[in-house]
Amino acid sequence: MKYTTDDLRTKWLDFWKSKNHVVIPSAGVIPDNDPTALFHNAGMHPLVPFLMGEKHPAGIRLANAQKCIRTIDIDEVGDDIHLTFFEMLGNWSLGDYFKKEQIAWSFEFLTKILKLPVEKIAVSVFAGDENAPRDEESAEFWQKQGIRRERIAYLDKKHNWWAKGDTGPCGPDTEMFFWVGDGNGPKNFQDTCEDPQWVEIWNDVFMQFNRSPDGKLTPLPQENIDTGMGLERTVAALNGLSSVYETDAFASILQKLSELSDNTENTTSKRIVADHLRTAVVILADKIAPSNLDQGYILRRLLRRAIRHGRKIDISGSFCKIIAKVVIEKLGKAYPEIKQNEAFILEELEREEVQFSKTLEKGEREFYRMYTKKRNKILHSDPSFAGNPLHIDGKWAFDLYQTYGFPIEMIEELGKEHEINIDIKEFEKEFKKHQALSRAGSEKKFKGGLGDHSERTTALHTATHLLHAGLRKVLGEHVEQRGSNITPERLRFDFSHPEKMTSEQIKEVEDFVNQAIQADVIIEFEEMSVDDAKSKNAIGLFEHKYGDKVKVYSMGEFSKEICGGPHVGNTGKLGKFKIKKEEASSRGVRRIKAVIEN
Ligand code: SER
Repeated sequence: MKYTTDDLRTKWLDFWKSKNHVVIPSAGVIPDNDPTALFHNAGMHPLVPFLMGEKHPAGIRLANAQKCIRTIDIDEVGDDIHLTFFEMLGNWSLGDYFKKEQIAWSFEFLTKILKLPVEKIAVSVFAGDENAPRDEESAEFWQKQGIRRERIAYLDKKHNWWAKGDTGPCGPDTEMFFWVGDGNGPKNFQDTCEDPQWVEIWNDVFMQFNRSPDGKLTPLPQENIDTGMGLERTVAALNGLSSVYETDAFASILQKLSELSDNTENTTSKRIVADHLRTAVVILADKIAPSNLDQGYILRRLLRRAIRHGRKIDISGSFCKIIAKVVIEKLGKAYPEIKQNEAFILEELEREEVQFSKTLEKGEREFYRMYTKKRNKILHSDPSFAGNPLHIDGKWAFDLYQTYGFPIEMIEELGKEHEINIDIKEFEKEFKKHQALSRAGSEKKFKGGLGDHSERTTALHTATHLLHAGLRKVLGEHVEQRGSNITPERLRFDFSHPEKMTSEQIKEVEDFVNQAIQADVIIEFEEMSVDDAKSKNAIGLFEHKYGDKVKVYSMGEFSKEICGGPHVGNTGKLGKFKIKKEEASSRGVRRIKAVIEN
């Protein structure tokens, strides 16, 4: 193989170092303060506050490889291109260099470092609309580098405008494509850009705008560069492989699966197991355990789907841990937290695998019980029925799924084995009804989740620091942040603690926060090294913190925590703090929901 994922990652980071960028570690996969997403799904995602104008402690030129998770296309996983976990290589200018330098460096990286022949490269630029002009500037910079005019396509907003979501930073972009077919590819790119043999390998976004919830674009305080290169996909393209699953990222995992299974035909299931367990390991490495909530729920679904597909390829016995070890070996060097949390990862995998196997057994038992009952009843009134396929209505199948967590795929498989017709259409109807209900629930949950920096969310974010400090004071130093999610209405904070809090403890924590608010202390920050922050007893998540320097926010004697900000100016601005709910989130993790009353 010409290029491995490790090669490309190293080349990328070295290149940006040589252009005076600071390489920052990947953030964890769970956003700190963005209620609009369960996982980081792009390299820029953890950097949103800095693209919006906050000062980043590591400087104005950054680069990294970021762990990203996208579960939206989970049903496509197993084809040639879809993955639920992938690495995104990125570089950023936070109000420093802009189009000219970025395009020159992009060209240099592609042709000098990766040594791609310029004849096989094409680019697209923004065609222009009411928000931003036709990007002749970028087209000119590309031509100066040596990209022929016919290899530059002008494309509309659908293609060449990048936004994080419905709100937040966005802007026009220029994308780079590599021809993976025979020869050097067609001369003219504008007319052929839809050809799948042109693989998009890199995206340079000119982040200049912020979109507010009402859809309005306002210029950001600074012009940023945000770029992203999908690691696995690019390695596949560079090696002339048609599938990401053929890259080294998957080689050792698929090899191990082949050792465990004699099934040489079912490639899709093998790929699904490989992809899902890779993602599961990455989520677990951030200390998220399987649960029925949010990220823990996605993790549970990925694991259960992997286990089911493991059965499809006839793997006998438990295998999650065996595969996880291979994944940890492969990714642990680039992302040390994966190696560090190996024990937790393996323990949780085992627990879930055992539990799900029990669910499957229970579901199967129930299936047979019902089946036999039904069959006997029919046979009783009509002995000539013997030998005919039995019909099972979709509602019953749905109940089995709903009550026992018994997956429909298993019901279908058993159906096939025993000549039972299952009304899948009816099942799907029930399923959709249920899904519509839960979707309505989650939309409501995310509604108003602006991922913004409005006064309300900033105040709630500030209160989270005080809550964190209060919990450690009242419950002990074992309390660590496990997640935070803020909407304009409330804050939500997950933390490690083994048992339910008593009402006295809740009251004590509330009192601590309200005292801090009444004291009206000034909130200040100082930049320092991670080691200094630790020695000053600052709390917070150190694991993924960027480079040498971090920001430590202090609120008098009440709180000292590393964080990117932003915060209100003094604690007196917060109003009255009230804990509304204290509940279990997952094993060993509690969840608090709290509000500020004015
Ligand atoms: N944010 C852009 C992307 O995800 C570039 O980094 O493609």
